[in-house]
Amino acid sequence: MESQPAKPLTAGRSTAPLSGEIAVPGDKSISHRALMFGALAVGQTRITGLLQGEDVLRTAAAMRALGAEIRKDGESWIVAGRGIGALTAPDDVLDMGNSGTAARLLAGILATHDFYSVMTGDASLRTRPMKRVIEPLKMSGATFTARAGDRLPLTIQGARDALPISYRLPVASAQVKSAVLLAGLNARGITEVEEPEPTRDHSENMLRHFGAELTVSQQGKGRVIRLTGQPELRGADVAVPGDPSSAAFPLVAGLLVPGSRLTIRNVGLNPLRTGLFDTLREMGADLTIRNARTQGGELLGDVIVEHTALNAVDVPPERAPSMIDEYLILAVACATARGTSRLRGLAELRVKESDRLAATAAMLRAGGVRVEIEGDDLIVHGAARIPGGGLVQTHMDHRLAMSALVFGQITEAEMRVDDATFIDTSFPGFVTLMHQLGARITAS
Ligand code: S3P
Repeated sequence: MESQPAKPLTAGRSTAPLSGEIAVPGDKSISHRALMFGALAVGQTRITGLLQGEDVLRTAAAMRALGAEIRKDGESWIVAGRGIGALTAPDDVLDMGNSGTAARLLAGILATHDFYSVMTGDASLRTRPMKRVIEPLKMSGATFTARAGDRLPLTIQGARDALPISYRLPVASAQVKSAVLLAGLNARGITEVEEPEPTRDHSENMLRHFGAELTVSQQGKGRVIRLTGQPELRGADVAVPGDPSSAAFPLVAGLLVPGSRLTIRNVGLNPLRTGLFDTLREMGADLTIRNARTQGGELLGDVIVEHTALNAVDVPPERAPSMIDEYLILAVACATARGTSRLRGLAELRVKESDRLAATAAMLRAGGVRVEIEGDDLIVHGAARIPGGGLVQTHMDHRLAMSALVFGQITEAEMRVDDATFIDTSFPGFVTLMHQLGARITAS
């Protein structure tokens, strides 16, 4: 993607309500995991609704390079797994592109496969911290060599007789939890992860779905997950729900543009992912869930949203894990709300695809909104009228680009983004889908 020419876009104020019924692409977290667990299972895994975004395609390519057979069959993806511990050494560098999830989860798999591999990523991923996975994964007996600052490229010599890891997460991170669990699949004995705050549990749900032995117990506000090593994972069918983190963009657009009403079908509603819905409701949003159901251990349903005038909100730091990817678009909603919002405890945003704390503030300022960063908190002063007219630097960050394009639907003058290329990492077809709803986004 880095070598592609930049794709600048302009978003203009929506003069008519947004309306329609849409579905968003498959959940990114679940898609990565379906390919990885499928490759580690014995037998066939059939995945429907897989996100065919750049990030997930990188995972597919990496699992193929490690010996799994992955092919498309109509709308489904078929994975012929190798079984636990049976992946083979890749004959080239594994390039995980823009995807932190792909890199960190794969590091877990590679830690307990007895071969040498090298992993890299694009300019954004190469700035992101890998120490958070290297530290616990070393306990399995694997050896890692990383670039200065524990950044990619990273070499990994997997452990021969891997030891089970017992680890308490120092930061709330589903990626780190999942890396340790993936390593534990090929270690004899019990792998234990303690998380002081619950984070998305797609790995746990999918491990159970594939037949692993796993217990989860409540401990204070957090959880302890225990996985019995070397289970026989059996290939399974996985139906990937729509990504709530992608649904967030049309959903907030529908809330903000006067007169709008839209339905987003088949959205994943795992309670560890829906902090944005709770926050928007606290702001007075009109959100309705229909057809709630469970599929492969994951809750999903249709979300109906109607334009509502919002009030400012104070979001506690404990909510961050359940809406970690949604603060950018929430900040756009806060810009139009009545009063001053405070979004607390956002230190983790600094190490995402971009420094999202600084970048969110810069995006809103480019549109004339008053914003402050105090410590790890973002303060947004809402206004009824937002001048707009600015240019947003997207820093290779898909969610920043989409947030800015939604922002432009409600600013007086157009908002421009310098490069929308990276939207394809998580939400291919975003602009077309927004057009279907009536949004104004054009090439600049
Ligand atoms: C993800 C976990 C989160 C999230 C990322 C996907 C996952 O990252 O931001 O987009 O699939 O496990 P952290 O674990 O770093 O919080």
